[in-house]
Amino acid sequence: MQIPVVNLRHQIESTRAAWQQNLEEMFGRQHFILGEQVRLFEQELAAAFGSNHAVGCGNGTDAISLCLRAANITNPKQEVITTALTAPFSGIGILGSGAVPRFADINPRTLQIDADDAANRITKRTAALMPVHLYGQACDIAKLARIARSEKLTLIQDAAQAHGLQPAGKPLTAYSNYVSYSFYPTKNLGCLGDGGAVCTNSSTIAARLRDRRDGGRRGGQVTYVAGINSRLDEMHACYLRAFLPQLVSWNAERNRIAALYDEGLKDLPGLQLIERTAESVCHLYVVRTRKRDALRRYLAERGVGTGVHYPLPLHLHPTYHDCGLKRGDLPHAERAAREVLSLPLWVGLPTHDVEEVVSRIRSFFAVS
Ligand SMILES: Cc1ncc(COP(=O)(O)O)c(C=O)c1O
Repeated sequence: MQIPVVNLRHQIESTRAAWQQNLEEMFGRQHFILGEQVRLFEQELAAAFGSNHAVGCGNGTDAISLCLRAANITNPKQEVITTALTAPFSGIGILGSGAVPRFADINPRTLQIDADDAANRITKRTAALMPVHLYGQACDIAKLARIARSEKLTLIQDAAQAHGLQPAGKPLTAYSNYVSYSFYPTKNLGCLGDGGAVCTNSSTIAARLRDRRDGGRRGGQVTYVAGINSRLDEMHACYLRAFLPQLVSWNAERNRIAALYDEGLKDLPGLQLIERTAESVCHLYVVRTRKRDALRRYLAERGVGTGVHYPLPLHLHPTYHDCGLKRGDLPHAERAAREVLSLPLWVGLPTHDVEEVVSRIRSFFAVS
């Protein structure tokens, strides 16, 4: 029996009629860049996520860069503090604006950025905080928003893994005017290639994002600012418009599967579950164990796919060798990177497959 770590078949098949109709309309109009599908998707996304504006772009990495560019954080004397435990692209998005990333440690129970550690790392060069809502769960965004306000810093939320997340029942844009998303295919809301967006409540920021994603142009062939070329393709908007209405039920399905894992794996000596709040949108189901690599091999030999998000904290990546931190400086992130394992979690994953994964993990710990 094979249980892959991710499988998109159900999501794509169950929405076929809707995306086929959108594609027909796109072909009818013969408009493939910044046309009707992207315009409608931006409206629908803003409405679904409780923000005034949504601006599509080429991917989640560019969404981060565009936020920083729109906030005039574009030179290497300006630093942006983010978590060390995240996708490499969180840091690459910061570099893409011209600013430089700095890294904070994590809370070992939630694996989210430690807000106090981030606050302690603020210097005169710090221009922005960029927490990540990792694995689909909320970081301590209320506290980070207070810190950003009192230190007069821009607050960007990397919500690439957190589509539909509403910390304390509020949209993410209630906490800051820069919320970046990725639509990489495996995200809770993904397209069938690369895509991204930024949500904001500010019409000024939305306008700045719109010209900066389109080469600094404002509808014609004159460029007004040094933008980038990062537009959401019409074709991807066709899929995203079909998937978006399902997001709430898909997130509920992810939560149901996560609760099955919680129940099946609780009290297992040697395995630590990650604390998460009820509002989590469960992008990934991550557990921790010192025997991570052996467990991963054991499951692979028995047909169960797993992932590691992420095997190396960003301050130890060669790209960030001059970030001012060395091994040992962010102990919680470093230890988590050695221990985290992501279990299969996808819409349509049968309950008996979840039970199978649980029973294989239990048998691993029984014999090892
Ligand atoms: C937390 C996080 N930030 C940023 C990104 C970058 O998104 P993209 O791959 O769409 O550029 C990703 C996805 O890889 C991510 O998981």
